[in-house]
Amino acid sequence: MEVKAFIWRGESLALLDQRELPHKEVWLDLKDHLQVAQAIKSMAVRGAPAIGCVSAYGFVLGIKRGADPQEVYEVLKNTRPTAYNLFWALGRMLRALEEGRDLEEEAKAIEREDYEANRRMGDLGAELLPDEVRILTHCNTGALATAGWGTALGVIRSAHYRGKKVKVWVDETRPYLQGARLTAWELLKEGIPHTVITDSTAGFLMKKGAVDAVIVGADRITAKGDVANKIGTYSLALLAKHHNIPFYVAAPSSTFDLSIKNGEDIPIEERDPSETKNCGGVTITPKESPALHIAFDVTPAEYITAIITENGVISPVTEEKVREIVNG
Ligand code: MRU
Repeated sequence: MEVKAFIWRGESLALLDQRELPHKEVWLDLKDHLQVAQAIKSMAVRGAPAIGCVSAYGFVLGIKRGADPQEVYEVLKNTRPTAYNLFWALGRMLRALEEGRDLEEEAKAIEREDYEANRRMGDLGAELLPDEVRILTHCNTGALATAGWGTALGVIRSAHYRGKKVKVWVDETRPYLQGARLTAWELLKEGIPHTVITDSTAGFLMKKGAVDAVIVGADRITAKGDVANKIGTYSLALLAKHHNIPFYVAAPSSTFDLSIKNGEDIPIEERDPSETKNCGGVTITPKESPALHIAFDVTPAEYITAIITENGVISPVTEEKVREIVNG
């Protein structure tokens, strides 16, 4: 059964609090843009496309509450710096406001289009996979990270529903454990065979010949096809290249920032080091030890076999092909 990360209620936004999963299903009722911004910052909702959709509804709520549009825009924009879908969705909402269009309809369109894009990516991506396949994935890119279905996890879902024999290696994804907590939860609900592994297990499994493909999502993709995604993605891409395993990225066109050419220019979010020092509410390091939490890394285009978008598959990953497919 497919899950929903958020539900628009007209006067508020119901949000499944992902910090509580998989053990508790707690729904928040967000009433204005400040509450929506806080939910994004604090990871109650996460995943680039979901952040984009939710920020659009946050924009609607802020305007409904009579707040100044520029203030609403700024508050929502200053939540998470890497996920391009956030800036893309807020840009669309600002344009709708300037053009006097119905804001609620615009936010609903963003949600609907994201769902449709995921279904299309699922179809295109499933075609790339053999009938029997062991896939390694990182972070959570499923229904929880999008308007529904998912990007990388959507491809896995589509392959499964087409009758392919899919088995998933789920990277736990330290420190937030999006893989262990969220991807495993979604796969379990769908009845898709999976095994959770620690992040450092990937290389050994690849060496043993137990991984046929790697599929991940993206937070921002540049014009030449460099991909910012959850920290650990770059290491997986290098491992996959070394072991001659195809490395796929699945992302909608709303994740592409064609104003940036090189991955080094993508703003990378650094979060509170306490998130690295703690696990499941327990401090696991000496209290005095400094720690670092870099939330994303960048995988250069040359390590990527193909980028699956709703407009088509980008392969080889070159600037010319990125522009051709993304611009439609
Ligand atoms: O920090 P998160 O959980 O928001 O990071 C999410 C990811 O890195 C995903 O891979 C990406 O946003 C794509 S989700 C369809």
